[in-house]
Amino acid sequence: MTDCISIDKLMESVGCRKYPARWSGIFDAAMEEYDRNGCPYFTPEFYEELDRKYGCFETTREYYLKAASCAAGDEALGRFVVLLITALRDKTYRSEDLAGFERPVTPPGKDPDAYEMATAFVLVALFEDGADELRRRGVSDEYIRTVLKYAAGGIKSYIRRHNGALGYDILWWGLLYTQCELFPIVRLEMQFNVNWSFCVTVFRNADGQSVPLANGMPVHKSGRYLDPADTEDTEGSWTAEIEETDSTWIGHSFGADGLVKKETTVLPKSEWQIALKAGDPVIDVHIPASDPFTPELVERSFEETRRFAAEHFPDYKYKAFICHSWLMSAQLDALLGEDSNIVKFSRRFRRMTKKSHGDDVFSFVFNGIDRNTDPHLLPENTRLERALKSLYVSGGALYEMYGYILAK
Ligand SMILES: CC(C)(COP(=O)(O)OP(=O)(O)OC[C@H]1O[C@@H](n2cnc3c(N)ncnc32)[C@H](O)[C@@H]1OP(=O)(O)O)[C@@H](O)C(=O)NCCC(=O)NCCS
Repeated sequence: MTDCISIDKLMESVGCRKYPARWSGIFDAAMEEYDRNGCPYFTPEFYEELDRKYGCFETTREYYLKAASCAAGDEALGRFVVLLITALRDKTYRSEDLAGFERPVTPPGKDPDAYEMATAFVLVALFEDGADELRRRGVSDEYIRTVLKYAAGGIKSYIRRHNGALGYDILWWGLLYTQCELFPIVRLEMQFNVNWSFCVTVFRNADGQSVPLANGMPVHKSGRYLDPADTEDTEGSWTAEIEETDSTWIGHSFGADGLVKKETTVLPKSEWQIALKAGDPVIDVHIPASDPFTPELVERSFEETRRFAAEHFPDYKYKAFICHSWLMSAQLDALLGEDSNIVKFSRRFRRMTKKSHGDDVFSFVFNGIDRNTDPHLLPENTRLERALKSLYVSGGALYEMYGYILAK
């Protein structure tokens, strides 16, 4: 292919505006691979074979087949997909590669069903690698099918958000499944290989009680975490530090509302030990959108995760389950009341202020409505929407929080 002889030309021809410099070093090998085998991910046989082995395209088959048929015959896109697979197959550089790359923007005259799905081809091409890794961990064939089905299903979120148009824009998330880091377990999704990185240290005593102390946390005058990246007013803000003496830790804990307390808490070292500190391994809890979300299903998710971790990741000495979400907001206690599944879920965790701007509900409740929309125009279909609308109309906001449950 004469007009795509260099990596720059190839990237330009597929609308990829940003890619890591190191890909120049693997370009020739990837092009040779393409010259030998073409791009098998544009053929229906590839999907039929994976589906036969893993049943992973149960609800997405038609989308992948359509995208593949639109991409078939597009040599530049095929070469690009093979290059991306060659790059990402090497896990050493995966996070840098993902950070240094922007998915293609459909070039004029090209088929968006093929180009917007470019990274989905890459994801499914790595399914066999993922299945091998899961097998090495002793995971059953049945569960491998479940994991791959979730990974393949990632395109549905794009399709939902784009009125039915094909595409995929969360390759980094999809790869977590295939690199043995993200597991759908009963109702929740559990992410392994995460380190606690928030400015809070948690202490525990012999009775199993825990106390979180803010550790170098910038605090807004309201008691909320003050994100240094925010432009929020800083007047009256302060920093919550832990002071360590020979016999105590002294610091600022969090109220039932999740906000940082002004008064200090003194923890005698004779009774309290550090249970969770920056850098410690944790399991990050994610909540996919689906029904139902009952406390029973949630309980089973945690129980099953403990069992799964002990069986398949015995070396992963996680210190806590953590969750960062709008669902964790203690404000919801009053807005939704005791019988809400969301409130029952978040109360399992010890909750702590995290974000000083509250906008996740615009993605997860108001379906991507712009954060700056006049709040009077927000929908009011459910109890939550009505409560949030009146909160935003009155100038308030729902702030995301962190929660933790210490490992037993
Ligand atoms: C998690 C989830 C399934 C909980 O729903 P649920 O079981 O109905 O929760 P609750 O019992 O607390 O709901 C209380 C009320 O809020 C409404 N509600 C809950 N989540 C809602 C949402 N995302 N959008 C609109 N309304 C919602 C419910 O319909 C109910 O109102 P109603 O009595 O008028 O029907 C739901 O919020 C969801 O699908 N969220 C999207 C995924 C998500 O946000 N994940 C976290 C990302 S950080």
